[in-house]
Amino acid sequence: MIQLSNINKSFKIKDGEILIFKNLNFAIQEGEFVTILGPNGCGKSTLFNLITGIDSDYEGEINIKNNGRTINNSIAYMLQKDLLLPWLTVIQNIMLGIDIQKKDKNVALKLANEYLAMLKIAKLTNEYPANLSGGERQKVSLVRTLILNTNILLLDEPFSAIDYNTRIELQTMIFRYAEKKNTTVLLISHDIDEAIAVSDRIVILGKRGNGIVWDMKIDLNIPDRSPVTARQHPNFANYYKQIWENYPR
Ligand SMILES: Nc1ncnc2c1ncn2[C@@H]1O[C@H](COP(=O)(O)OP(=O)(O)OP(=O)(O)O)[C@@H](O)[C@H]1O
Ligand SMILES: [Mg+2]
Repeated sequence: MIQLSNINKSFKIKDGEILIFKNLNFAIQEGEFVTILGPNGCGKSTLFNLITGIDSDYEGEINIKNNGRTINNSIAYMLQKDLLLPWLTVIQNIMLGIDIQKKDKNVALKLANEYLAMLKIAKLTNEYPANLSGGERQKVSLVRTLILNTNILLLDEPFSAIDYNTRIELQTMIFRYAEKKNTTVLLISHDIDEAIAVSDRIVILGKRGNGIVWDMKIDLNIPDRSPVTARQHPNFANYYKQIWENYPR
């Protein structure tokens, strides 16, 4: 479980402070797939930086537990900027996190090659990031995140540069991955459709400083739910309407 209690967060700037969160309370259960929606600059990426500890400058408490035990090193985070190191090849970039976390290299390498093939970028294995398109870079960044094999996955707009068909394929892949491993997923997106298609729950942040304005469960009860079948469910349009009407603008 990820529990945020009474979080206050602001950034200090030259002439004062920018308030991002005031008394934010938020909990995500194990195995839940939650999508965060909200306008540019409302604090979505900041929220992930707080959860992962990249940014520790806040008031309040964040607890991450698995079966009641506090856990470290259990989060894989795909940042909004892909941060591929230009002097390393695709596969070296992918393996970087494994090297740092001292995980089993052979298992990770096998997994990396499987994902590269699945995402149809195996031929880029030994290329340098400068020779990749934006979408290809995002795929590499996604593989780097997935092979860490953690029980919590934070994905900050992972599909923003990906073409529509591939996007649906990737949504399906992540959805199945999370379902199989009971992974807790927190996804940041700007796409209402995508959010309904993959999530158990959608949380909408209001304009900067307004916190959570809408928190809704998505119940698309089909035996073989996938991001494609979810879109065909009769309730899909109802969810879309509710979110559209409550979207901060
Ligand atoms: N290090 C920083 N110093 C000052 N202000 C910052 C800093 N990082 C972020 N901000 C500001 O905080 C606000 C929230 O930023 P954040 O990146 O969390 O937004 P976001 O919801 O992820 O937006 P987007 O949809 O554009 O990715 C923005 O107004 C941004 O300018
Ligand atoms: Mg962001």
